[in-house]
Amino acid sequence: MKVSRYDYAAQLPDAQRVARQIHDVLVRGEHVLGPAVAEFEERFASYVGATHAVGLNSGTDALVLVLDALGIGRGDEVVTSANTFHATALAIARVGATPVLVDCGPDLQIDVARVAAALTPRTRAVIAVHLFGAACDVAALAALCREHGTHLVEDCAQAVGARVGGRRCGTFGIAGCFSFHPSKNLAAAGDAGAVVTDDAALADRLRVLRGLGQRTQNDHVALGYNTKLDEVQAVVLLAKLGHVDAWNADRARVALAYAERLPEEARAATPVTADGTHVYHLFPVYVPERDETLRKLVAAGIDAVVRYPRPVHRQPAFAYLGLPHDAFPHANRHADHTLCLPIRPGLTDAEIGYVVDAVREVTRPAARAPG
Ligand SMILES: Cc1ncc(COP(=O)(O)O)c(C=O)c1O
Repeated sequence: MKVSRYDYAAQLPDAQRVARQIHDVLVRGEHVLGPAVAEFEERFASYVGATHAVGLNSGTDALVLVLDALGIGRGDEVVTSANTFHATALAIARVGATPVLVDCGPDLQIDVARVAAALTPRTRAVIAVHLFGAACDVAALAALCREHGTHLVEDCAQAVGARVGGRRCGTFGIAGCFSFHPSKNLAAAGDAGAVVTDDAALADRLRVLRGLGQRTQNDHVALGYNTKLDEVQAVVLLAKLGHVDAWNADRARVALAYAERLPEEARAATPVTADGTHVYHLFPVYVPERDETLRKLVAAGIDAVVRYPRPVHRQPAFAYLGLPHDAFPHANRHADHTLCLPIRPGLTDAEIGYVVDAVREVTRPAARAPG
């Protein structure tokens, strides 16, 4: 058996209709910021519960443009987690600010107390990452940022649809940044992203920045970027948006089944709940002898991966921060000892059973005994 991480065909129940709509875009000629982008922005803002959505080329650009639009740059500090995906810290560095990394807690979520301790008069923003799809304690972070007079930006790249107390992630701070990379819970057919915000001035600034800093044709009022959500990607995203909640609920079904059936040698690394706070973009588990376990699972046809084998402070690109290897013990432990089991909507009981049996087989103590 093969157990894959993705099933793109299942995400397009009406592929013929989508193909016709893409054909319409191709022949109609409104290729840039056309009606599909406008409709997606409206529907996505309403889905998340925000006033504005601005469609961009990627989740990375969503973070970069928000920081730029907030006027964050050289001399400023932005606090975020050491165990996030590279793009979060990269965005901070890209605008010229200094990433101030803090360790996560044992549940891999950004640690609010450590964020509080890292705030200085130079802190202009905190980026709260909802890693793996599990909402972090964003309400506490919002309160902390308010108290400190700093911006809260949410990195929701992995957490589209996640809710805290009935409110969607992305609505707790000044802006929420989303990725629709094909690996994500809401997947475009290439790179795509968006920012949501209730702040009309910020939304306006983002729209100017994404279009080369133009307010109107040939009136360049800012040093902008060229990073717009593509019309064809908007067609794909519109076809999928209405399914995201059902897909996330199905991911939760798989997560609960894993949590119930996996042997004690493979322990879920994030809290497992079905209350909507976790949308299970990934399902990381602590396993003994991680690299060897990964090799055996992959050999058994299971599309397991390590996300992420190096925390930000151990990436060569961030060597200039001068942080020692052991600066963040929880982030290191996660990077060195977890792997992610395949999780996606539609994973069958037979596939879950196959993964569980394979994990039991390769992690049982006898299988690990020397010789
Ligand atoms: C936590 C996090 N932030 C930001 C990004 C960047 O998104 P994109 O790949 O769309 O640029 C990703 C994508 O993998 C991510 O996982």
